[in-house]
Amino acid sequence: MSGIKDLGNATLTFDGKSIELPVFEGSERERAVDIRALRKETGMITYDPGFVNTGCCQSDITYIDGEKGILRYRGYDINELAENCEFIDVAYLLVHGALPNETQHGEFSRHLNSHSLLHEDMRHFFDAYPDHAHPMATLSAMAVSLSTFYPELEDATIQENIDYKVSRLLSKLRTAAAFSYKKSIGHPIVYPKRSLKYCENFLNMMFWNPVNDYAPDPVVAKALNKLLILHADHEQNCSASVVKMVGSAGANLYASISAGICALWGPLHGGANQHVIEMLERIIAEDKGNVKRVIERAKDKEDPFRLMGVGHRVYKSYDPRAKVAKQMCKDVLAKLGVSDPLLDLAMELEDAVLADDYFAERCLYPNIDFYTGLTYRAMGIPTNMFTVMFAIGRIPGWIAQWLEMREDPDGRIGRPRQIYTGPTLRSMNS
Ligand code: ACO
Repeated sequence: MSGIKDLGNATLTFDGKSIELPVFEGSERERAVDIRALRKETGMITYDPGFVNTGCCQSDITYIDGEKGILRYRGYDINELAENCEFIDVAYLLVHGALPNETQHGEFSRHLNSHSLLHEDMRHFFDAYPDHAHPMATLSAMAVSLSTFYPELEDATIQENIDYKVSRLLSKLRTAAAFSYKKSIGHPIVYPKRSLKYCENFLNMMFWNPVNDYAPDPVVAKALNKLLILHADHEQNCSASVVKMVGSAGANLYASISAGICALWGPLHGGANQHVIEMLERIIAEDKGNVKRVIERAKDKEDPFRLMGVGHRVYKSYDPRAKVAKQMCKDVLAKLGVSDPLLDLAMELEDAVLADDYFAERCLYPNIDFYTGLTYRAMGIPTNMFTVMFAIGRIPGWIAQWLEMREDPDGRIGRPRQIYTGPTLRSMNS
C-alpha cells in the first residue's frame, strides 16, 4: 500500500494503566488509531455497532470525502469518469488500478464477448423459478452457480486467470439478469450478441423479442453506461464488506459476490432504488401527492416510515452521484419525450427535505437511489429490476475490493467480537 504516513502514538489510559497506540494518516489525510494491540494489552475491545468508526483495511481503490461530497475511483473524479468513459473501462480501472490503453480495451472487450453466454445447463435453472421470483434472488443464485461450472477457480494464485474470472462475472451475470427478466414476463430469452457493446448488448437481451424488432436507443445506452459507472464502487459499504467478509474465510470470488448481491438487495442499501419508486407511487395513490404529510411521517419517531433514497452513512452533504443522476434523469426524460409525474413529485419532495430543519440538522440529503429509479423507469426497465441494475454496476467494485483484501498482507479472517450480556452460568437443576 502507498501513501501511509506515521504520525506517532496516541495514549490510552484506563484503570491506572497507559498504552501507546500508533496513529497514522492516509494519502488524503484521513487519520486512524491502530488498535490491533488493544485487547492483548488491556483485555478490552472496542464497541462500535454498525462499524461507524471502524476502519477494516487500507485501500488504494476508492476515495470518499463525505463532508465535501467527493467520490473518486483510483484517483479519478466520478464526474470525469461518468462523462468520458465506457463502463468496461471503469471496470478495468477498478480491477487493474489504471485505465486500459487501446490494446487492453480491445482485449478486455473480446474477453467479455467470449464469456457472455451462460452454460446451457444454467439456462435451464430459470425454468425452475416461479415467474414472480425477485430477480435479485435469481441473480445471487446464478452468481454462486457460476462457481460450479468454472474449474479455474481452483487456481493456485488469486491473480491467475483474473481476466477470465472478471469477464465471466461481468458478462454472464449481465446475461443472467436479462434472462431473469424475460422469464418473469414469460418471453423467450434472447442470447447475447458479439456485435454489440456491453450496454447495448444488455438492452438487446432485455427488449428484443421475435414479434417487435428492437434496436437499442443511443440515448438509453448512454444513460445506462453512466448509471453503471456511478454504481461501480463505493469503498467499504455494506455489500462490499459482505463480499470481503465471505472472501476472508477463503470462499471463492463467485460465492463472495453472490453474498454481496444479497446484501445489496436490502432496502437500506441498494434495494432503496426500488423502494423510492414504490414510495412515490404510494404518495400519489394513498396521500394524494401530499408531500407535507410524508415529511411529517418521516420525522415522527413513533412511525417506522423513512424517506427512501434520503440519508447516507458517509455523505453528510449532497451525494455526488445523486447530483449526476438527477441531471441525467431530467436530460434522459426530456430526450425520450417522457413526462413522468413521479419526477415532479420527487423534486417537490427533495425541495421539502432541503428546506426542513430535521433533515438539515442530521445532514440528510438525497442519495444515489433517489433519482436513478426514475431514469430506469423511463428506459423501460421494470421496478423489480432496479437493484439488479445496481448490482451489475457494482460487480467491478466488489471484485476489486475482494482482490485487494485477498492480497492484503495484514488480511485475516473477518471476525468481530461482542460484549456478552446474557445470563451468567446457571444450572438446569436450580
Ligand atoms: N428518513 C428519515 N429520517 C432519517 C432517514 C430517512 N431516510 N435517514 C436517517 N434518518 C434519521 C434517523 O432517524 C436518525 O435520527 P435520530 O438521530 O433522531 O435518531 C438520524 O437520521 C441518523 O440516521 P441513522 O439511521 O443513524 O444513520 P445511518 O448512517 O445508520 O443510516 C441509512 C444510513 C441506512 C442510509 C439511512 O439514512 C436510511 O435508512 N436511509 C433510507 C434508505 C436509503 O435510501 N438507503 C440507501 C442508501 S445509499 C446506498 O446504500 C446505495
